[in-house]
Amino acid sequence: MGDLSRLLKESWTLVEEQQDKMAGYFYARIFLSNPQLRDLFPVQMDVQRARLLGAIVTAAQTLDDPERFAEYLHGLGRDHRKFHVDESHYDLVGGALLEALRTFGGEQWSAEYDQAWRDAYVVIAKLMVAGADADTNPPYWHAEVLTHERRSRDIAVFTCQTLQPMDYRAGQYVSVETKHQPRLWRVYSIANAPRKESQLEFHVRALGAGWVSSALVRRLKPGDLIRVAAPMGSMILDRKSTRDIVCVAGGTGLAPIKALVDELTRYNRTRWVHVFFGAMDREDLYDLAELNRLAARYPWLSVVPACSSDGAFTGEHGNISDVVKRYGPWDNHDFFVAGSAAMVKDTLRVLAEMRIPSTRIKYDAFTDG
Ligand SMILES: Cc1cc2nc3c(=O)[nH]c(=O)nc-3n(C[C@H](O)[C@H](O)[C@H](O)COP(=O)(O)OP(=O)(O)OC[C@H]3O[C@@H](n4cnc5c(N)ncnc54)[C@H](O)[C@@H]3O)c2cc1C
Ligand code: HEM
Repeated sequence: MGDLSRLLKESWTLVEEQQDKMAGYFYARIFLSNPQLRDLFPVQMDVQRARLLGAIVTAAQTLDDPERFAEYLHGLGRDHRKFHVDESHYDLVGGALLEALRTFGGEQWSAEYDQAWRDAYVVIAKLMVAGADADTNPPYWHAEVLTHERRSRDIAVFTCQTLQPMDYRAGQYVSVETKHQPRLWRVYSIANAPRKESQLEFHVRALGAGWVSSALVRRLKPGDLIRVAAPMGSMILDRKSTRDIVCVAGGTGLAPIKALVDELTRYNRTRWVHVFFGAMDREDLYDLAELNRLAARYPWLSVVPACSSDGAFTGEHGNISDVVKRYGPWDNHDFFVAGSAAMVKDTLRVLAEMRIPSTRIKYDAFTDG
């Protein structure tokens, strides 16, 4: 472990137990001396409170050698343009961070610790600013909601059209924000391959107390304007690969899988594509009719739906990862996996047991952080 990393970790133990109070102090410092910055943050700071501070702390501590993480930090800086963050804000936030650490670190806080945090922050901020400066895209795109359909109690499929063209690859995700939850951004996978008319489809499940997902499912309607930012993610097709494909989708994890299938409908003739689509019950197989329609049209596509807790379902039963295993072996396939963190973890475990090389597996886990 490098010296910087050791100092950061060691000093963090002095403040760790007072994180919540420290976060309150940190934001108060920023907003009291720069009230205009309050407008960059979500209205409900109580739930969001620790997001920025927590992120800076994690970044500093895990980045023993920040240059190694240049790509991630460039991306993060680019992404911060959607929050209206500019270069001058970095010093203000860095100053507040140092004051908060010093205040809660108490008597044991040393000049050495102070310097370590200052050094880490400067390098991170520099890389983020460089990333933002190099970006030629707009910070976000406005999009108008065209259609909005409730497919089950908790799931909606909606489409929108960006007012300017946006480049992305099938399988990627974007941050989304609505007027219903201003300045709260969450990422959602685009469910279609790029189209000339700039239309995007999204599949969203409202999670219990989830702020953004429940607004997207229950309050969004045609005509609403939303903001969409920064296509990201690397779960994309390798057009040079000739291997057959296995896609494993859990719930709305179907969204990026459907985008990949959509791209394949444009050029594929030779690769067999197997889509496994799992959910708790039939109602949550919200897009099965459309998948079946595609399978009827494209001879290379097969679809296997499965329910984990619906005894009356006439298709496969059990967790989707086990169903994939039952249909194996899969000796020479490219894999794409998307769904909840638990579903992705289970599937990766099963694929590892089947000795599928990890280089052939791409996945996105829908964690919320
Ligand atoms: C790469 C990626 C792609 C994604 N794509 C999609 C997509 O296409 N479709 C989609 O629906 N989602 C997708 N997500 C998830 C999405 O980004 C949000 O995390 C999700 O919608 C919850 O946001 P929220 O604001 O509603 O919840 P938050 O306000 O962030 O969370 C509110 C509370 O709900 C809790 N919570 C979290 N999970 C659950 C749960 N399963 N049940 C009950 N409570 C829970 C949280 O812990 C928190 O306390 C994706 C995530 C990632 C990382
Ligand atoms: C070292 C510097 C920084 C790091 C590592 C960092 C990291 C992060 C991360 C990882 C997130 C969560 C990402 C997301 O929700 O999409 C975030 C959110 C945010 N950051 Fe930063 N950030 C830094 C500096 C700044 C600065 C200088 C500002 C300007 C005031 C800022 C403003 C915000 C805002 C407004 C949010 C959204 C807050 C929320 O949703 O709660 N950040 N930051």
